[in-house]
Amino acid sequence: MTKPIYIVGGSKGGVGKSLVTMALIHALTEVGEDVFVIDADTSNPDVWKCYQNEVVSELVNLDEADGWIRFVNICDEYKDSVIVVNTAARNNTGVAAYGRTLSQSLDELDRQLVTFWVVNRQRDSLELLQDYLDAIPNSTVHVFKNGYFGADNKFELYNGSDLKKAVEAKGGKSLMFPDMADRVSDDIYSNRMSIAKAWKTMPIGNRAELRRWLEEVSKVFVPVMVHG
Ligand SMILES: Nc1ncnc2c1ncn2[C@@H]1O[C@H](COP(=O)(O)OP(=O)(O)O)[C@@H](O)[C@H]1O
Ligand SMILES: [Mg+2]
Repeated sequence: MTKPIYIVGGSKGGVGKSLVTMALIHALTEVGEDVFVIDADTSNPDVWKCYQNEVVSELVNLDEADGWIRFVNICDEYKDSVIVVNTAARNNTGVAAYGRTLSQSLDELDRQLVTFWVVNRQRDSLELLQDYLDAIPNSTVHVFKNGYFGADNKFELYNGSDLKKAVEAKGGKSLMFPDMADRVSDDIYSNRMSIAKAWKTMPIGNRAELRRWLEEVSKVFVPVMVHG
């Protein structure tokens, strides 16, 4: 099996998709993987801005058929790279219309598709996830409850849902994504830094917080990373 494809979704703005994507790119490059980053948030490509100098990356509009074709072609051309896709808000429309371009190519690509679905505590996060599961049935989907929005018990809507059962019945996991101190995340976002660059340049206190967060993140990633 060739290297996996990771899609970081959520289809809502501000749920933490970009931060999860950045954490994933960091974790993969730390273990020596070649990573190809597709930033589908073409109007606000924050991940691309932070990572364009560090990994191979491209802006691809997944609201259009052309973008999905390019996505599949990248997966074929860069066989030795793990593909990481950062999606935009309202990505569900494009997924519903063209997601099969990808899902029907997975066998031929010989790639496994893994989705990290990032949620806040609101109901529409869950409804959008159901749409995604219907559009791309052959992805393993893990749900990341973003700790930025509160502790696990605050995600009662998801925790008590049939959707959680459906996700887990298909081998998906329901995980808490760690909260990072605002001072550090603000620094990373406003200075358009990769996590590796932040690690090299931030003051000692900020780095201590970054280290704590990265340790928590790596524990979360262990059970959901695929080794191709
Ligand atoms: N786990 C987290 N820890 C700290 N800040 C977070 C976390 N998740 C999201 N944020 C903050 O929330 C904002 C939106 O996150 P972002 O990753 O850009 O969301 P999205 O890509 O889904 O729109 C950012 O300013 C980010 O710093
Ligand atoms: Mg984003």
